[in-house]
Parts: sequence; structure tokens; C-alpha cells
Amino acid sequence: MNTLVINCSPVRTGATAKIVETVSAILSSRSEVKTVCIDDYKFSYCKGCRSCHKTANCVQTDDVDLLMAEFEWADIIVSVAPSYWADIPGQFKAFIDRCTPWCNTHEPHKTLSPGKKGYSIALRTGPNMKECDRIIQSIEHFYGHLEIESKGHLGLVSVEYKEDLEPKIKEITEFAQSIIT
Ligand SMILES: Cc1cc2nc3c(=O)[nH]c(=O)nc-3n(C[C@H](O)[C@H](O)[C@H](O)COP(=O)(O)O)c2cc1C
Repeated sequence: MNTLVINCSPVRTGATAKIVETVSAILSSRSEVKTVCIDDYKFSYCKGCRSCHKTANCVQTDDVDLLMAEFEWADIIVSVAPSYWADIPGQFKAFIDRCTPWCNTHEPHKTLSPGKKGYSIALRTGPNMKECDRIIQSIEHFYGHLEIESKGHLGLVSVEYKEDLEPKIKEITEFAQSIIT
């Protein structure tokens, strides 16, 4: 069993990174785990040219293919995203846009191997869970069009810095354990 855990924030030492580290440590007892940060990859924005709708290929060649190779490797994908202006960080959104060659709304399209399972974790500084739900919806929408089955999600509010996660470690641990049981 292979698991990919993605830090969808460009910050490598913040709250998102701490959640990625916690979840990865738990999952590594039962599966091979790779952790990546969206900022490990350099790629351009989608040009909206729709060439991929006809060819299933992007006109641009960059690190999107490297990250998608990790998706192909994984049986389980866990995306951890903070709220940036009430949505996923722009870097992650730019990556999702570039996954249009894999999107199942047009033929031909590239496909990942079947049977992949997706999990989403959203965090934010404000107190209202609705904003986390919106982030989870964005990620699950993405998973759906790549035919990755959404199996679970977790929203965490009132988190600005990694220290704010201290009272939530049990909740995060239980969520991670639910992925592998
Ligand atoms: C550019 C930016 C925009 C943000 N916008 C929101 C927001 O709209 N709502 C919110 O609750 N938190 C917002 N935050 C706070 C982050 O979601 C929060 O601090 C999170 O823990 C950041 O995790 P990170 O440091 O690992 O990226 C924002 C943070 C940044 C840097």
C-alpha cells in the first residue's frame, strides 16, 4: 500500500506541514508513505487553450507530470490544505487547473489507475467550519474528476500556527488511524 501526503501550502514549517508530518508518521506504520509540498514543484498556469480536450496532453511540459507520477504511485492520497482567502492556496489551485488532461469530463483524457482513495484535511485561522467545508469540497471535486474515491475529510478551525494544533493532535491522530483501519 502506497500513500501520498501533500502539503498544499507553500509553507514547509507551518501548521499544514505539522499535520502532514503527524499523519505521515501514523500512516507509515501500515504503508509506504511519501510526503511532498506543492512548492517542491515548478509549473505554469493552465492557459485555458483546451488543446488537452482534443489530445489529452498539455501543450506545456513541466513538473505537473512529476507530481502526477506520485499520484499514479499512490493507492491513498491525503491532501492537506490551509485556507487562503477562504479557498485552497493558489499554488494548489494552479496545479488542479493543470490536471485538466486527466479530467473525466472530456474524451480523450488521461487516466490514473483505478481504485485510488482520497482524503482531505482543511485548516483555517477563523472559527467557522463552513470555510473548511468549502476547501474540502474543492479537493473532493478535484478527486472526483480524476476518479479518486473520496473516503474521508477533516476540518480544523482556529489554527494559525503549528502551536495551535496541540489541542487537536488527538483528533488528527484518530483521523489518520481511520485511514488505515
Ligand atoms: C495568504 C493567506 C490567506 C489566508 N486567508 C485565510 C482566510 O481567508 N481564512 C482563514 O481562516 N485563515 C486564513 N489564513 C490563515 C491560514 O489558513 C492559517 O494560518 C493556516 O494555519 C496556515 O497554514 P500554513 O502556515 O501551514 O500555510 C490565511 C493565511 C495566508 C498566508
